[in-house]
Amino acid sequence: MAEMADLVHIEEIMRKRLNEELYQHSLGVAQTASLLAGRYGVEARKAYLTGLVHDFGKSYTPAELRRLAERKRLALDWVALAEPKLLHAPVGAALLAEEFGISDPQIVRAVALHTTGGREMNLFDKVIYLADVIEPGRSYSGVEEIREAAFKDLESALLLAVNNTIRSVLARDMLLHPDSIEFRNSLLAAKKGMEGG
Ligand SMILES: [Fe+2]
Ligand SMILES: [Fe+2]
Repeated sequence: MAEMADLVHIEEIMRKRLNEELYQHSLGVAQTASLLAGRYGVEARKAYLTGLVHDFGKSYTPAELRRLAERKRLALDWVALAEPKLLHAPVGAALLAEEFGISDPQIVRAVALHTTGGREMNLFDKVIYLADVIEPGRSYSGVEEIREAAFKDLESALLLAVNNTIRSVLARDMLLHPDSIEFRNSLLAAKKGMEGG
């Protein structure tokens, strides 16, 4: 786990590597993740650190991300490779060890899953996913409802969030990753008490 000095150092690297807007977003996700972590009983400092680095992959161009995915021999499906918006998550996760000395599997996993979500999301993954979509800098329509639900009922907030993400992917004519569908189905099935949820 990173010490305080490491955290300041990592913030400095992120500030240099990301544009101002994305850097502010990263700080917002870090703070929100640490609040949600406190609420749901996962490690707040770890959640802060994960929020801080979750978009590190966005410091690369789509072409660089594809090259890095190859270099790291990431076993990615064609949708993740074809849609640059998706690729920054698994590639960023794969670079955390060499860039920041972060090899904690919980952090690496949550960063890899933060954009699509997935069928088997653990509590820590969910906290990071949700923090990313409700941090104070987010202003899309519907965000207030998700923010309100976030501290009351994690699963309901996540269902609202993934529904919103899928709608926006459709509206923008982007490729929809199957893991997002899996994520939504598992949340909805659990809510309805269906088998497999
Ligand atoms: Fe991201
Ligand atoms: Fe993000």
